[in-house]
Amino acid sequence: MSPVADFLIGVLVVCLLASGRCADLPTGTFGVDCLDRYFRLGFDTTFTGEDVRFEAVDDTGVHPITEQYAAECGYSVNVRPHLGFAELRASYFSCTALNEDDETFTFSFNMIVTQDGVEETYDVNKTCTLALPWSSRELNCEVNYMELTMRKDVHFPGTKGAHWTSAVDNVYGLAHDDWQVLFQKGDQQFSPITLSTAEENGYTISMTRGRYVFRMPYGQPDSTVTLVDGVTVDTVHATLFTRKGWTVLVVDLLAACPMSDGFYNDSSLVWLNPLETGETDQQSQRLRIGANGQLLEPVEAAARGYNMEVFGSQVQVTIPFDAVGGYKKSFVQHNIYSEYYLFNMYFENQFIDVNQMDTRLRQYRPLVSPLLSWPKICINQTVLSEHTFTVYIGVFAEDVQLTALMLTGREYIGDVMNANISEVFHPNFTHGYTLGMRFNHPIVPMELSEEGILQYTLDMNFTLSIMPAMVESFYHHATVVAVFKDVFPPIFEAHCYEKGISFKLDLGPFAYLWAVYAGPYPLTEVFAMEQGYHLINTSEGQILNVPLFSTGYIYKNIGMKTFEATFEILVRGLKSLKVKGTTVKTCQFATTELIVCSPKGHVTIVANMSAIPSAGDPYRISLLNRTCGAKESDKSSALFTFGVQTCGTKVKLTNDFVVYENEVVFEPKILTEKGPPRLAMEAPERITVQCAYHLSGLYRLFQLHKFVSDYAGVGSIRHDPHFVQQKMAFDGNDPAAAPLLNVSIAEEIMADKPTKYSKVVYFLKDLVTARFHP
Ligand SMILES: *[C@@H]1O[C@H](CO)[C@@H](O)[C@H](O)[C@H]1NC(C)=O
Ligand SMILES: *[C@@H]1O[C@H](CO)[C@@H](O)[C@H](O)[C@H]1NC(C)=O
Ligand SMILES: *[C@@H]1O[C@H](CO)[C@@H](O)[C@H](O)[C@H]1NC(C)=O
Ligand SMILES: *[C@@H]1O[C@H](CO)[C@@H](O)[C@H](O)[C@H]1NC(C)=O
Ligand SMILES: *[C@@H]1O[C@H](CO)[C@@H](O)[C@H](O)[C@H]1NC(C)=O
Ligand SMILES: *[C@@H]1O[C@H](CO)[C@@H](O)[C@H](O)[C@H]1NC(C)=O
Ligand SMILES: *[C@@H]1O[C@H](CO)[C@@H](O)[C@H](O)[C@H]1NC(C)=O
Ligand SMILES: *[C@@H]1O[C@H](CO)[C@@H](O)[C@H](O)[C@H]1NC(C)=O
Ligand SMILES: *[C@@H]1O[C@H](CO)[C@@H](O)[C@H](O)[C@H]1NC(C)=O
Ligand SMILES: *[C@@H]1O[C@H](CO)[C@@H](O)[C@H](O)[C@H]1NC(C)=O
Repeated sequence: MSPVADFLIGVLVVCLLASGRCADLPTGTFGVDCLDRYFRLGFDTTFTGEDVRFEAVDDTGVHPITEQYAAECGYSVNVRPHLGFAELRASYFSCTALNEDDETFTFSFNMIVTQDGVEETYDVNKTCTLALPWSSRELNCEVNYMELTMRKDVHFPGTKGAHWTSAVDNVYGLAHDDWQVLFQKGDQQFSPITLSTAEENGYTISMTRGRYVFRMPYGQPDSTVTLVDGVTVDTVHATLFTRKGWTVLVVDLLAACPMSDGFYNDSSLVWLNPLETGETDQQSQRLRIGANGQLLEPVEAAARGYNMEVFGSQVQVTIPFDAVGGYKKSFVQHNIYSEYYLFNMYFENQFIDVNQMDTRLRQYRPLVSPLLSWPKICINQTVLSEHTFTVYIGVFAEDVQLTALMLTGREYIGDVMNANISEVFHPNFTHGYTLGMRFNHPIVPMELSEEGILQYTLDMNFTLSIMPAMVESFYHHATVVAVFKDVFPPIFEAHCYEKGISFKLDLGPFAYLWAVYAGPYPLTEVFAMEQGYHLINTSEGQILNVPLFSTGYIYKNIGMKTFEATFEILVRGLKSLKVKGTTVKTCQFATTELIVCSPKGHVTIVANMSAIPSAGDPYRISLLNRTCGAKESDKSSALFTFGVQTCGTKVKLTNDFVVYENEVVFEPKILTEKGPPRLAMEAPERITVQCAYHLSGLYRLFQLHKFVSDYAGVGSIRHDPHFVQQKMAFDGNDPAAAPLLNVSIAEEIMADKPTKYSKVVYFLKDLVTARFHP
């Protein structure tokens, strides 16, 4: 029957709730069992605390179960708070058990639990019925006492050794009506004593309906301690006798209990036990092992991994540390983690003894390993080329769990941790953890020196707790580093092609250290697409083709025939975003038509003038302000440079851009000598040039009233053929020449994006107002 079920019948029912003596016992934590030879109350100290004591109750009163009383009267109390395990065992022949015909035994105990200074008493009553018939002779080697019982009605012929014979000779002379007992210790014989004297000396000698009961603590003055096969054996030899008329009744009581403690190696508890202690010549031995007072059939024992082998007169039992039936406990002391193991060995040897009596010898031996300190291993399994820290920590027993992890001083639990901590199970029921952490993970501190030494450091503090209570924890702190040499920012191969510059973006093995920027912009696929760059993945890495005139170019030495274009790629530290390296490529290109709008507001134009017959003459070419002539010109083209705020440049505001517009103006040379032309004149085409600057880069224009843009402007040259050029020459007093500011658009913008553009709009409004109303 399961302990829980027994508990329900045995304890809950008898609980005296009404009296206030008894509180509800936590269900499932108590078990009341009738085992073969004793009554057992088992409980979980997690619920009772360690301060538990018992009283045995019978007709004569209440008897506190002290150590001495327990050993004399057949009780064993075993409280192991560290293991959460505790029990009270009471022999069927214990002093207060109510014995009916050696068949039915009724027990009554008070269990007194003290928690937080409050005492609580529980009644435990239980009646057990013998399930396994008594053998003629039984010896129970309990933890704290020896108990020998013998059937009263067995007689056998005296074929004893010399000691016995002399004892019998002795008792014949000494016997009288009362029972007396005579102890022997080796060759020594003491004077017979009465049973009450024996009782005063710690012995219990009683007679039940069918049996003699002889019980004593270990280590009595009359006991003989011998070594048998290296194991201490405690032997008490007594002769019980009485005279009834002409008959002298002599009972030979021989109790010999081996006290094998066993030893341990790194995986098992090993118990060596002598089989022949008191009596030699045992016949038809039957050996069985079990745990916690319950014997198992050999098949069951083997299934649990218990192993039993007989070597000569010894039996060797091996119990693996993790076998069912044992108790294992991990401990933490001074941050050192260790474990111990308890196995309550139960062993039975059934045999026919020298007197042809069937004998049953049972031993209850708790086998305890010492504190085994576990090797706390932290192994750096990092492989540099994987660019990932790999750290193994172990080896832990099953009840040890990783409960917290600090990485570089930060608590690191949750999803990310789950992804990077894996539990490693070993076949010997131990486990460990492997932590994987990419070098470039944001929390890993990184240092890259000018000399190209790259160092990653991972500082770990593992907290491990002992389950299930998690009260005890220990930690392990470790730091791993990974060092690379010769780590420098990449410099890209670049070459010029007809329409632009091409870069081979090979970032090398430390790609994750760097961020590639085109000017102020991170070079992403989206950005490249927006700018018209061609970012191509090839088998050898990424290729970036930057067509001429796309964003990011800087133009220099712009001439009528050639100009130079420079494109710069920056490599920044991914974390710091500091510029670590630059790849600059300048190429010379043939000039066709071009317009360059610099961030400083300088406009450079090379305009295709082939539509103008004989560009130099008879026309004079200029911008809207006719004092702004071409810097260079020939038959087919003309080069101008001007500032966006000069040469009659008109300003327009669109939703997102400030557009500066100017025109290439033709006029007969002759007229220019005498002031501005007043007449419309025919020209083969109109050439409009525009620079559009995005508003977002122009805040300084509106703060400082000085043209500086964060970005270059976008230029365009438009040829409108057969255009009749109107009076275009610029005159400062002519309202028509004022910048083309559309106030209603400005207001719209202001309503739409008041914060972003309000300053701009106010400024422009002022500008407009000033121009219109000087
Ligand atoms: C348990 O046994 C004791 C002693 O025999 C008795 O006083 C008590 O009433 C019993 N409790 C119950 C609930 O039967
Ligand atoms: C521990 O003892 C058992 C039983 O003797 C044996 O099988 C096992 O190999 C031993 N282990 C070690 C590591 O010695
Ligand atoms: C269990 O196995 C692990 C891994 O093989 C080993 O490191 C550890 O020492 C073993 N522990 C015991 C108690 O055998
Ligand atoms: C987690 O660890 C694995 C290797 O065990 C690694 O590949 C992965 O990048 C790590 N993830 C993070 C977020 O560090
Ligand atoms: C590691 O964590 C433990 C427990 O939180 C703490 O006591 C200890 O000081 C930490 N060690 C280091 C080096 O941070
Ligand atoms: C850990 O392993 C890496 C890679 O093998 C090595 O560079 C480093 O020195 C090792 N030791 C520590 C303490 O990090
Ligand atoms: C090109 O390669 C990069 C990594 O090298 C990758 O992130 C990107 O998705 C690839 N693009 C295409 C279009 O395959
Ligand atoms: C200039 O324009 C003419 C047509 O007006 C065209 O034929 C010529 O190719 C252009 N030259 C350049 C360099 O673009
Ligand atoms: C035309 O430009 C010249 C030189 O920059 C300047 O002095 C003159 O004032 C400008 N004319 C007008 C009308 O702004
Ligand atoms: C200003 O812009 C608005 C809205 O786009 C337009 O309706 C209006 O005609 C423009 N005014 C001038 C003077 O261009």
